[in-house]
Amino acid sequence: MSLIYVLNGPNLNLLGKRQPHIYGHETLADVEADCRKLASELGHEIRFHQSNREYEIIDWIHEAREDGSGIVINPAAFTHTSLAILDALNTFEGPVIEIHISNMYKRESFRHHSFVSHRADGIITGLGTEGYRLGIRRVATMLTAPKKD
Ligand code: DQA
Repeated sequence: MSLIYVLNGPNLNLLGKRQPHIYGHETLADVEADCRKLASELGHEIRFHQSNREYEIIDWIHEAREDGSGIVINPAAFTHTSLAILDALNTFEGPVIEIHISNMYKRESFRHHSFVSHRADGIITGLGTEGYRLGIRRVATMLTAPKKD
């Protein structure tokens, strides 16, 4: 059994209420419940967090260095601004999957650059909240796949 961190950045606490035409009607509590169900089906545990504060996300990444095997992260607006989150992720050795509910590339050009993508092993963007489940599946696969030299 491995521990997977699922981390969420600013404003995602308003999921379901915030611009539902872009982000859908599911709440973050719904997403968390789905992630927990899937993780237990796959034989893993998750720690699921959301914060509007950059330092808390950095602290959870540091915690994952000690306790976690993989990270699924939707950094939200910090995606486009946070060198500090990229630096923190660069200290983590396990798989990292970056998630975006919306398709960033179909939106404003300021959303087209991601600091986090410089570290992520994979990026899921525009597949709605299903992206979280796909991200957890991918982390689980990477944790069991034989390591390449
Ligand atoms: C987001 C996309 C970001 O550009 C935006 O700032 C968010 C959410 C997404 O999940 O689609 O807050 O990460």
